[in-house]
Amino acid sequence: MQRKITLQAALLITLLPLSQSFASPQNIAVIGTGYVGSVLGACLASFNNKVVCVDTNKETIEKLKRGEMTIYEPGLEEMIARYTQNNSLSFSDDPASAIRNSDIIFIAVGTPMTDDGNANLNAIESVARTIGENLNGYKVICTKSTVPIGTGARIKQIIKNYSQNSTEFDIVSNPEFLREGSSIYDFLNPDRVIIGLESERPYKALYDVYEPLHKRAVPFVFTNIESAEAIKYASNAFLAVKITFINEIANLCERVGADVLQVAKGMGLDKRIGSQFLTPGPGYGGSCFPKDVQALLFKGNQVALDLKVTRAAKESNSEHKLRIFEKLSKLLGNDLSHKKVAVLGLAFKSNTDDIRESSSIDIIQKLIENKARVSVYDPEAMDNMKKLFPNIEYNSSTYDAIKDADAIVLLTEWDEFRLIDLAYVRKLAKQALILDARNILSTTLLKKLNFTFENIGNATVSTSSPDPVE
Ligand code: UDX
Repeated sequence: MQRKITLQAALLITLLPLSQSFASPQNIAVIGTGYVGSVLGACLASFNNKVVCVDTNKETIEKLKRGEMTIYEPGLEEMIARYTQNNSLSFSDDPASAIRNSDIIFIAVGTPMTDDGNANLNAIESVARTIGENLNGYKVICTKSTVPIGTGARIKQIIKNYSQNSTEFDIVSNPEFLREGSSIYDFLNPDRVIIGLESERPYKALYDVYEPLHKRAVPFVFTNIESAEAIKYASNAFLAVKITFINEIANLCERVGADVLQVAKGMGLDKRIGSQFLTPGPGYGGSCFPKDVQALLFKGNQVALDLKVTRAAKESNSEHKLRIFEKLSKLLGNDLSHKKVAVLGLAFKSNTDDIRESSSIDIIQKLIENKARVSVYDPEAMDNMKKLFPNIEYNSSTYDAIKDADAIVLLTEWDEFRLIDLAYVRKLAKQALILDARNILSTTLLKKLNFTFENIGNATVSTSSPDPVE
């Protein structure tokens, strides 16, 4: 019989002496080897646990066994190589046996958006059934995937229904806050670890799993499962609101002669606001913010709540992406037909190959609709974009994309774009028209070279220096 964790017990757990340094390595199965699962597996192995990463996609597992990456994530290849070599980390396409041989199971499968905006829980429910069928002793089941509030209870019910001999288990919500492109750093240096539980029993196992973080006094928040699930959605939705807000202020700056980078700097020095996630751009994308914002709105509707601020952010972000296209079109005199437009950057942000919900998709689509000739370059994301737009021009370098271009639009803040030789670009392009949607090109130099340019929020960028460190 599992006792409900009381707030007092949660507080007690949190205040337990952090001196427990006799963590025993845990046998862990991570189900799902996507952006979260593969990083999770490698990092948990680095915490002296024995980890098997599982995926039903045999090709993915065979690649990972050969040390080949299925995603681009800086540092991941080296980390996986290190921990497979010392046998802390392995890969398997057999979830049943991995579950049977593990004490802790992390569910890290995808929860993509469904057509009606809800999170698709098919993979989650399938894993829960497999766990139930292979429950051969007490296990802790941790949901790492981002799941709608209340999913923990659903996972528990499914496992109960499918576990024959009513073996005991505990469900834990342990949401992840890693960002693509800096996943490993984010996992190893979290601002906090959120653990939602409904009994005290799984505490010790989770404590041991994350023991290195305890040693570094990383704050742990122990709460109930629904609150842990809500923290994830509320955090992502708030960050999406913050980004959308600064993009709206950028639009205002353009009309009133203010400089959004200065405004953001002045705002961010207020500790209540903070300078992070106040960088204007072409609108947020990625596999999380759009999906999580939509799923939160869906959950609100389910409980007869219109989450107006969150909804406004979603709507404003969509409009902002189209506003980028309008600015580009205006640069070309609103006549795009047969004009060559160089698109620099396809990934939804730098240091990733992920194009999901990237503003580049909206803009390429509009360019094609307006019969422009689209010529693109991205250091990592072109293979993914080819699946969506096979018939546009893909180039092997920035300058090849720019050659004879009527206009250039910079959408992803790759470092190599910060350092492009604008004098050479001036000679290479047919027309000196640039839209810098990431405010990374030196406006001083663009003016000096007689470019006609636009950026986001009337930004004054004096040197090609990277964005303020986030
Ligand atoms: C996000 C959350 O940050 C992370 O905590 C969560 O676990 C997953 O979702 P991610 O989507 O990988 O991470 O990338 P993030 O760095 O948050 O950027 C999301 C989008 O917002 C990108 O399109 C990025 O370009 C944009 N962005 C981010 C801005 O436009 N301005 C900013 O200041 C920050």
